Amino acid sequence: MTQIDMQQAFDFGQRRVLMSGGSGVLGRSMVRTLLAHGATVVLLSRHPATALAHFADLSADAQARVQCVAADLSDASQLTAAVAQVLAQGPIDTLINGAGGNRPQATTGSQRFFDLPLTAMHEVVDVNLFSAIQLSQLVVPHFVAQQHGVVLNISSISTARPLTRVVTYSAAKAGLDAFTRWLATHVALEYSPQIRVNAIAPGFFLTEQNRFLLMEADGQTLTTRGQQILAHTPMQRFGHPDDLVGTMMWLLSPAAGFVTGQVIAVDGGFSAYSGV
Ligand SMILES: NC(=O)c1ccc[n+]([C@@H]2O[C@H](COP(=O)([O-])OP(=O)(O)OC[C@H]3O[C@@H](n4cnc5c(N)ncnc54)[C@H](O)[C@@H]3O)[C@@H](O)[C@H]2O)c1
Repeated sequence: MTQIDMQQAFDFGQRRVLMSGGSGVLGRSMVRTLLAHGATVVLLSRHPATALAHFADLSADAQARVQCVAADLSDASQLTAAVAQVLAQGPIDTLINGAGGNRPQATTGSQRFFDLPLTAMHEVVDVNLFSAIQLSQLVVPHFVAQQHGVVLNISSISTARPLTRVVTYSAAKAGLDAFTRWLATHVALEYSPQIRVNAIAPGFFLTEQNRFLLMEADGQTLTTRGQQILAHTPMQRFGHPDDLVGTMMWLLSPAAGFVTGQVIAVDGGFSAYSGV
């Protein structure tokens, strides 16, 4: 067993990352960290120009290492074509399934569960679960050919004990946790122990997808739900996007070389707290 050089473990100069959700609030922070550690990052986004504009303030060197290919994650044929295009340009060793989101129409509260439209629920499952499964089908064969690679899925803490109202999203993310464990086991047993699959389960980060649940329309006052969440978070604050990046770097790096099939909560203690 060779000792891990920690300096080298976090040098991503040789890494080429394919990532969905890289233009989102949490994704942008992850991309910036990857670029700062030398990685090349290829984003999958519906709006490439808008996605790349988020990184326009970075150095010319960093900007040269972030690219974007157009794809809507809910369109299987677009995803297939996009991944083929990315792989034709060079190998990928890291896949981050970072996209996700909720829709008010797939959430109870103003509507009864019995009346939720299936189309909205399908959209939520497609983006949060099915895109990660399809991207894994498209990319992991290349990890198998290379005999190494890392997948990181972005899940949620609303899974084993789902939040009230958040029905479809919680079911989709619980599926993503199960898929993370399944794929980790499958690839290690069938193909290579050098292919690892893990997930991060963020707690509550105030972003566009959940703002309507946590803040009143004035943008200043917490909703009752927002107050309840903070009351159940021992660290008594919402997460900041940069709170995720240390766990991301660890899971993607050789420092986590014996870690696979895990869902790591980054939640200020929310999932540990009994409420008493
Ligand atoms: N914000 C939180 O508190 C929180 C908590 C738990 C989990 N998460 C998860 O973290 C991840 C990032 O969330 P965020 O808070 O940054 O949200 P966000 O809305 O800012 O970002 C979501 C990203 O997904 C992309 N996306 C959504 N639908 C897409 C589609 N059909 N095709 C292509 N791209 C699509 C968006 O373009 C964006 O880049 C998501 O998976 C989310 O479910 C967030």
